[in-house]
Amino acid sequence: MALKVFITGGTGYIGGSVLATVATIHSEYDITVMLRKIPAEFASHYPNIKVVQGDYDSADILSSAAAQADVVVHMGNSDHLPALQAILDGLVHSRQSRSPPFLIHLSGSAILNPKVWSDVDDLSTVSTLPDSAPHRPAEKLLLDTVRDHGGNINIAIVCPPDIYGPGKGLAKTWSATVPMFVAEAKKLEDGRVFYHEEGTNTKSWVHIDDLMTLYLKLVEAAANRGEGAEWGAKGYYFASTQEVDQLTLATALGSVLRKHAVIDNPEPLQVSLEQLDSMLENVPIPHISRYLFACNSRSRPDRAKKLFGYEPKAPGLLESLEADVLAEIKKAKGGQ
Ligand SMILES: NC(=O)c1ccc[n+]([C@@H]2O[C@H](COP(=O)([O-])OP(=O)(O)OC[C@H]3O[C@@H](n4cnc5c(N)ncnc54)[C@H](OP(=O)(O)O)[C@@H]3O)[C@@H](O)[C@H]2O)c1
Repeated sequence: MALKVFITGGTGYIGGSVLATVATIHSEYDITVMLRKIPAEFASHYPNIKVVQGDYDSADILSSAAAQADVVVHMGNSDHLPALQAILDGLVHSRQSRSPPFLIHLSGSAILNPKVWSDVDDLSTVSTLPDSAPHRPAEKLLLDTVRDHGGNINIAIVCPPDIYGPGKGLAKTWSATVPMFVAEAKKLEDGRVFYHEEGTNTKSWVHIDDLMTLYLKLVEAAANRGEGAEWGAKGYYFASTQEVDQLTLATALGSVLRKHAVIDNPEPLQVSLEQLDSMLENVPIPHISRYLFACNSRSRPDRAKKLFGYEPKAPGLLESLEADVLAEIKKAKGGQ
């Protein structure tokens, strides 16, 4: 019988890329997606994929679809606890007597600390972060489920850093950080890229294509009764492939924006915390611009390296920057 896969967030940057990757490489899987808005071309592009329409508050739909699946790949909003609870209810409590299902949950590595975190060596710390840490409530719910029902469900948490590169989905194909940096640079003093203090704060990054390699390995391991991957208390996967500091990124971005006549002055400008805090006012996450432009968030994908030989194959952030900026310029002009 074909592996039954249930995917959420399939119109998003990450979720759309996972859907395209899994559906293309494993057309033999029986895939269902939950979408709240169905792209016009979805049925013709994915004629064999079943669609259930709903959103993350549709607990019954999520539970019922999860209960019928062998593998759930949950993406889109890492922090929507009712949706996650509904999926867990379906996977753990509403299943008929088939073998334990798999849940691959998307989280994020917003860890504000200059230390480089390993998903192997630092797992005990990463698994016990305070409740105030980004994404912690959802990860705690998952780890509590592992503790209480670990024999009945296999869970993996995928924790990417900032992502770049063109997505593969039918709807949203761009990530967050580079477009937000461009938008704020255009507004600052008639166009300036920027950094805070010395600009030495450093973040990890991953190209969307390399992240898809990790997702594919996990889905394929799930299809193979979980073999080759680690699940449950050890099922935690960082996905980073490189690090870039803010001044280096700002310098590279300044030169690309100048080349394409978006700004006149490519030199990075040092900004204060007050200036940072006045940016991205429409994003409802406290101090989001500090996190994006002035913090460290560094992680090492030791588990994926050990299990899957995970290594970057896609172009690095600085190599991809011009293409990402051109896509952003096109989007701002109303194209896709
Ligand atoms: N992008 C990054 O650099 C990055 C890095 C690490 C972690 N993350 C985390 O990964 C998650 C997804 O990121 P992304 O960049 O893929 O986001 P995205 O492109 O904005 O995609 C969000 C997806 O979730 C769906 N969605 C959101 N709210 C929903 C709701 N209430 N009901 C049903 N569907 C809903 C959207 O559906 P619609 O199309 O209907 O809106 C879309 O499919 C976020 O939580 C983010 O924190 C992102």
